[in-house]
Amino acid sequence: MATITAPIFLLLHLLLLLSLRPFLPIATATATTTTTTATTSSGPQSPYLSPTTLFQNYQNMRTNFMIFIYNPSKSFTFQNPAASLFYSSLLKSPFLTQDPNEAHLFFVRFSPDMSKRSLARLVRDLRINHPYWNRTLGADHFFVSPAGIDYSSDRNVLELKKNSVQISVFPVTSGNFIPHKDITLPPLNPSALVISAAPENASTTTFLGYLKWDGKTELNLVEELKKDGDFLIATERESLYHVGNVKNSKFCLLFYSGDVAWMVEAMALGCVPVVIVDRPIQDLPLMDVLRWSDLGLLVAARGGAKRLKEVLNDVSEEKYSGMRGMASAASKHLVWNEEPQPLDAFHMVIYQLWLRRHTIRYARREY
Ligand SMILES: *[C@@H]1O[C@H](CO)[C@@H](O)[C@H](O)[C@H]1NC(C)=O
Ligand SMILES: *[C@@H]1O[C@H](CO)[C@@H](O)[C@H](O)[C@H]1NC(C)=O
Repeated sequence: MATITAPIFLLLHLLLLLSLRPFLPIATATATTTTTTATTSSGPQSPYLSPTTLFQNYQNMRTNFMIFIYNPSKSFTFQNPAASLFYSSLLKSPFLTQDPNEAHLFFVRFSPDMSKRSLARLVRDLRINHPYWNRTLGADHFFVSPAGIDYSSDRNVLELKKNSVQISVFPVTSGNFIPHKDITLPPLNPSALVISAAPENASTTTFLGYLKWDGKTELNLVEELKKDGDFLIATERESLYHVGNVKNSKFCLLFYSGDVAWMVEAMALGCVPVVIVDRPIQDLPLMDVLRWSDLGLLVAARGGAKRLKEVLNDVSEEKYSGMRGMASAASKHLVWNEEPQPLDAFHMVIYQLWLRRHTIRYARREY
């Protein structure tokens, strides 16, 4: 007897091999797990969680991965730039198959504006009209929902949420993301599609921290930071100076609930990302590929500007240079291209789907 939750547990069991840990913010002196994990060995550090298997596994994906797409009931578009580019890239990618029997995963597509009722009907129709849903109760299915979907009392929507792999845009509203199963798309900053500048030397930086501020988030903290000459705060209107400022800063501060679209650009320019958030987060893009805990920092806002500055100043030069190298190397995988390139954001999201293809199919399936 299969229950609604069975496939997700099976999937989780397999994904435990990846031994993912949540990324915890540094709030107090006791919560320093993220600062102590960096190795002190010499030589360039790897930004990857599994450097020895990643590239071979990626090649296997390039050659073997097959995705079957259900037809949408109506045509639709995604307003979000990353979701839109992911979707159009997938539709013209070599990963699609017309033959559901050779598919590893099934793509359920629907408009981001679809009501819960229509979504419930759509899943119910898949369940009744195709044999694939019942085999895993949706665990070998995935969907794109930029905002993520919420819990629902409807059995169909609940199965989709709990069992199928959700692809949404980073950051995702808490509750709309299931760690280890769901995936986020790296943010797409339309003005930064091409990043070619190499990071300059860290010693040339003028500011400890640079913040591109939306004028709303964490007012108190920002007021404190503004009074400190080590920090540079740029509001939207000053974004003309953006690239120069980023290059001149050691750390780039991002509010998790604010504007994160420039994170990848900052990393590419050699600015180490510092995400300011008061709770652990598990929805960073490429969470099961990149060693986020070593290439960036998570700092709690509640510690105030003083604590933030302490955390940044506590990073040794040696550690900083490792973080910077890793952040810059990692940024290549977070960049979107109009025409997907090897190992770019599109392919790495596909790779994360590939990592999630091992599900147990219940009936009528010979391997
Ligand atoms: C899938 O299972 C449901 C019962 O949960 C059943 O009503 C439906 O007909 C099954 N679908 C197929 C295609 O057999
Ligand atoms: C950066 O540092 C390297 C040595 O570490 C040096 O050769 C190079 O000239 C420096 N570049 C700049 C722009 O200062």
